[in-house]
Parts: sequence; C-alpha cells; structure tokens
Amino acid sequence: RTVYVNGDYLPEEDAKISVFDRGFLFADGVYEVTSVLGGKILDFDGHTVRLERSLKELGMGMPLSRDELLAIHRKLVADNGIDDGLVYLQITRGAADRDFAYPDPDTPQSVVLFTQSKPGLAESPMAKEGMKIISIPDERWGRRDIKTVQLLYPSMGKMMAKAAGAHDAWMTEDGHVTEGTSNNAYIVKGNTIVTRHLGNEILHGITRAAVLRFAREAQMQVEERAFTLDEAAEADEAFITSASTFVMPVVELDGAPIGTGRPGPVAARLREIYLDESR
Ligand code: PDD
Repeated sequence: RTVYVNGDYLPEEDAKISVFDRGFLFADGVYEVTSVLGGKILDFDGHTVRLERSLKELGMGMPLSRDELLAIHRKLVADNGIDDGLVYLQITRGAADRDFAYPDPDTPQSVVLFTQSKPGLAESPMAKEGMKIISIPDERWGRRDIKTVQLLYPSMGKMMAKAAGAHDAWMTEDGHVTEGTSNNAYIVKGNTIVTRHLGNEILHGITRAAVLRFAREAQMQVEERAFTLDEAAEADEAFITSASTFVMPVVELDGAPIGTGRPGPVAARLREIYLDESR
C-alpha cells in the first residue's frame, strides 16, 4: 500500500514518523475518516471543514489547502486501487522535544494519510441484522467536538461491548446518551427521529448532518435533543451513523430488544437515501 507522509508518497514500510511526534507523545493531533464508494470520495468538503475547525480549536493551522488535500485523497484512492474503503487522515502538531507547552508555531506539522480497502462497504450484513449495543459511562474528555486522536476510551468501550457479546457501546453522561464509541446515536419514536443536539459533548458527525438534512427533506420529524436510556429502551427503533457505517440499525440495548428486535423502516429508508444521494 502507498501512504502519504509529509509530502511524500511511499510504500507503507518506508513511511516513518519521529518518536518525538506530539501525536505519539501527547495525542496532540486530529484526524478524519472519509469513505469511498465505487471510487467516489463521499462528503469530502464536510470532512475538510470539520478538520479545519478541529485544528483551529487546538491552535493549529491547516498545513494544506482543500484542493491539495483532495488531490492527495484522489491519488491514494487511485494508486491503491480503492473501490470501496476509507481514507484516514491525521495531522499532528509535529515533532519537538517533550514538553507539555506547545512547541514553536513554526514546527512543521505531521501530515499522514492512508487508505483502507473495504470491499462491499455498503453491503455490510450488519445492515440486515442490526447491531447489539451496551451502555457505558462516558469517561472521555470534555471537548468531544474536536476530532482528536485521543481514542483510548472509545477503544476500551469497544472491548467492553465485545466482552458483553455486543457490537458497540453508547456512552451516557448525566443520565443521557451522548453518542457511540465512533458514531452518532439515534432513536425513533412514532414518526420522530431523536438525536443529541450539537455541543462539546459529541462529535459533529458529517454523516449526521447529511442524514438529518435528508430526513427533513423527506418530511420526517427530527428532534435534536438529549435522550435517556429509558427512552431508548422504549423506542420503536434505533440506529447509528458514521462515515464507516453510513446508517446502521441498532436492534438490542443492554441485552433487551429495541422495538421488534429487527432493523426498523426509518433506519432502512435513511440508509437507502444516504447511499443513493452519496454515490
Ligand atoms: N468516527 N462520533 C464519534 C465519537 C466518532 O468517532 C465518529 C466518527 C462519529 C461520526 O462522525 P462522521 O459521520 O463524521 O464519521 C461520531 C470515525 C468513523 C472513526 O473514528 O473511525
């Protein structure tokens, strides 16, 4: 596989980052994951706008223009023959002697991109079967709106889910669901789709923005507000969204079925609309 590191396209085994990189030492970096379907890069502009915001919130600038980033995405997709898959992008504050204070602003940032091939990404059997979710307390830091590479707690959450025989975890804070370990969380009650409002407590999902727009265009009711686990337990259906799963139904929460225990019609319709509009 060819990867991009700081201006060079290299075989992955030749790509190197300093042991002093602040991404490695302090998780001082941000990332984006963009999906590719049939060779087409989805929601590129949304991901780029969020990337710029994440960098700004951490006092970093955009080291490359939108067009330069798009050219890198396209070259990696082409050179690696990606039909369906993902492009991962990471930008850190660069390498400097270990110090909690940020280094000189002239320190070159590290920019890394690589692809992951996922044949049949949109045909996941999970879309037919639905996901099993457990709930766990949200023990992440308070700025989840910034897409940092500080992913240890989400990783632990995924392992807790696996240990419980589930696929993923929804995190809760002050009695309300924030989001999934790497996705936004939704419930459906009657004709209304409920998902947490934007704020520092969740990542502002690019798929979330697109799906809510499509839902409103299709005259579905949308409420952006926090919901409890009890509400989720009594919902008619539930689902998640992310760049890597699109819209994925949730059929079980903490061992109990949601609604009929089968993927629901709203999730199925939104998945279909999202994939149709994006491809
Ligand atoms: N995760 N919430 C969290 C905590 C996430 O990590 C993600 C994305 C989302 C969904 O955002 P989007 O729709 O822009 O992908 C919500 C990516 C896919 C990942 O970490 O692999």
